[in-house]
Amino acid sequence: MDAAQATLSAPPSVVCQGERFRLYLDETTLQERIGALGDQISADYRDSESPPIFIGVLNGAFMFTADLMRTLSIDCEVDFYKLSSYGEAKVSSGVVTELKHIDAELQGRHVIVVEDIVDTGLSMRYILDRIEELNPASLKAVTLLRKPAAAKVDVEVDYVGFDIDNLFVIGYGLDYGQLARNLRAIYILDEG
Ligand code: IMP
Repeated sequence: MDAAQATLSAPPSVVCQGERFRLYLDETTLQERIGALGDQISADYRDSESPPIFIGVLNGAFMFTADLMRTLSIDCEVDFYKLSSYGEAKVSSGVVTELKHIDAELQGRHVIVVEDIVDTGLSMRYILDRIEELNPASLKAVTLLRKPAAAKVDVEVDYVGFDIDNLFVIGYGLDYGQLARNLRAIYILDEG
């Protein structure tokens, strides 16, 4: 089954760009964990003096940002920040390029960065450093996935959905050469 056909269910494997990926985190597993993250964030910000603003990092975090926000039981805002992705590659170039600035005024705001995945950590480090310069009242980060074995920089992430193996993953917003973002589940490169 190719990536386009796999959108309505989560088959055990898909082929993307000629490579096979196997089901790694199914829809139910993802949505249950996202619900738990939303509950935790809602509890942490319930008594905050102003609603937090979520900054979704495009393109990869668009689906996670949408689903996470729907689980929140507190007032909140959203804006987006766009950085470059891997392009056609499966390994991080290590170069972070800004493609769209954040439009919202973040000074004095409670800011929560929403990422799809923290791999080397370079993107998250860059984002947190840029936002810190804007003098937010507080700054936290949430990521759906993290690859601890790939870390190149030390970056603290407050809310982590899943720590995963150090292999390339696709689906649920994550792409391989811009394809596979529409998959409802996360698939991992099948090296077998
Ligand atoms: P980092 O800067 O190396 O931490 O990588 C961050 C960005 O690279 C993420 O926001 C993703 O867009 C992309 N990325 C990292 N790992 C993967 C992966 O396994 N699959 C697809 N994209 C990835």
